[in-house]
Amino acid sequence: EIISVLGREILDSRGNPTIEVEVKTSAGNMGRAAVPSGASTGAHEAYELRDGDKKRYLGKGVFKAVDHVREKIAPEIVGLNVYEQVYIDKILRDIDGTENKSNLGANAILGVSLACAHAAAKDAGLPLYRYVGGSQACRLPVPLMNVLNGGAHANNGLDIQEFMIVPTVNNSFAESLRAGSEIFHTLKKILNKKGLSTAVGDEGGFAPTLKSNEEALELLMQAILEAGYEAGQNVFLALDVASTELFKGGKYTWEQNQITGLELQGIYQKWAEKYPLVSIEDGFAEDDWDSWISATSNLGSHLQLVGDDLFVTNPKRLRQGLEKKAANALLVKVNQIGTLTETFEAVNLAQRNKMKTVMSHRSGETEDVTIADLAVALNCHQIKTGSLCRGERTAKYNQLLRIEEDLGGMGVYWDKAGFR
Ligand code: PGA
Ligand code: ZN
Repeated sequence: EIISVLGREILDSRGNPTIEVEVKTSAGNMGRAAVPSGASTGAHEAYELRDGDKKRYLGKGVFKAVDHVREKIAPEIVGLNVYEQVYIDKILRDIDGTENKSNLGANAILGVSLACAHAAAKDAGLPLYRYVGGSQACRLPVPLMNVLNGGAHANNGLDIQEFMIVPTVNNSFAESLRAGSEIFHTLKKILNKKGLSTAVGDEGGFAPTLKSNEEALELLMQAILEAGYEAGQNVFLALDVASTELFKGGKYTWEQNQITGLELQGIYQKWAEKYPLVSIEDGFAEDDWDSWISATSNLGSHLQLVGDDLFVTNPKRLRQGLEKKAANALLVKVNQIGTLTETFEAVNLAQRNKMKTVMSHRSGETEDVTIADLAVALNCHQIKTGSLCRGERTAKYNQLLRIEEDLGGMGVYWDKAGFR
């Protein structure tokens, strides 16, 4: 039984406030969860409630969300059975009463939803991934590691937000993580030698000023090779274009030019032929359905096309996408939708329809590692949780190392089957 629910304001990895929630149970356990925050957010995401009081944290305080936890949520949740996650999440949605959770704030709601799951796992005496995923949860996701940052996460003029490496080494998460780290440090040496900046962006990737998007791909190829790996064999490439940010008046701003969705598709096609590119996220804007549909039918058979801003982890948006045959993979961000139950629903819907699923962090994160457990619990094929530095990114990788160890002989790395 839940005996108390408490919210507090803490800092995220950008130094902005966010909400953390603690749920206590009559068995004497406490579950805690902190909520992340995006920079290149989609228009269809659930509502992140901020105070707007310019005298505190430049308006970004979350005291209102904390108040909602204490005054509106706690009275309804205290006394409930902590194992009844679906019911708890339904109550949370009912108290809020809006489609996009703008009443209580999706940040307040998500904090409570996830803290309840943590408390329940403790009551059950199980690790979170086992409690949420059940006895069959045994698959480790392939990491999409964002080692070069651009877009809204850096100020280097690169259009594309994330250039990622995708290691599948020795059928093991730990070995793939090692490969990622070695490539990351090799890349740093290469940048240094070229006199380029090795300062990092919000997700821990380097953010050098480059001449073109393609130069970034070339740098990754060089780093993979010099680190002793084989591009296209045991390390692949992935992109998050985050192109909603580039879209205006029906065109995309690309290296100072205005181009159409079809021209952009042509660039992706050319790159897919030239590089071991296996995944493109948000290659088209959140409401540019025509471009999504065209690219999915033309490139979708050999390329993973991931919907982030397009689907916002929302089962309703995903259902539209399935009908229109737009995208073939779902990015999963718990705070885009706001409850664990709805996250489940979106992931299950995608997997039932043979879509790949990618668990994801936000550019503003905390030391909370819930998404690592959820990736395994929900059988997600991949996880996207940043580069090989910055504690809030490596925290998730480290939790996956613990889970892989805990699974022992039972653990299965998704490996190439995770994106093919
Ligand atoms: P965001 O970026 O958290 O700033 O939205 C991550 C992404 O676009 O995948
Ligand atoms: Zn994205």
